[in-house]
Amino acid sequence: GAPVEVNISKLEPGQLIRVEWRGKPVWVVRRTEEILKGLATHDDKLRDPASNEEQQPAYAQNAVRSIKPEYFIAVGLCTHLGCSPTYLPDTFGEQVEGVASGFFCPCHGSKFDMAGRVFQGVPAPLNLVVPPHQYIDDGNVIIG
Ligand code: FES
Repeated sequence: GAPVEVNISKLEPGQLIRVEWRGKPVWVVRRTEEILKGLATHDDKLRDPASNEEQQPAYAQNAVRSIKPEYFIAVGLCTHLGCSPTYLPDTFGEQVEGVASGFFCPCHGSKFDMAGRVFQGVPAPLNLVVPPHQYIDDGNVIIG
């Protein structure tokens, strides 16, 4: 599949947009300062907080799993059996106490944080996949 160019210049804080790349949904989420701070507070609840088990680009092997902390880009498919998790920007605390926002998979209940890192005690074995991507300028990113 061809690379996909995504204009992110109009993305609002907290907003998620979906694009299609190689027949898969890819999410681009603009994370707020608050979301980024929150990522540092629940490592003890995650299966693989440092993404040691992942096959992913080197530029995503950091605490926020991204090139630019503000933007999180991931393949929007659960690493269990491939359903598409639901973005819960406000009500994720009902899934994991004390974690304000995240992704919930409706198929078998897997839960991921705002860096796509999987929580313990759910069927998904791995963090969400970060696809290859690069920024061409401040407002545009190429997936693939
Ligand atoms: Fe997501 Fe099973 S496919 S929990």
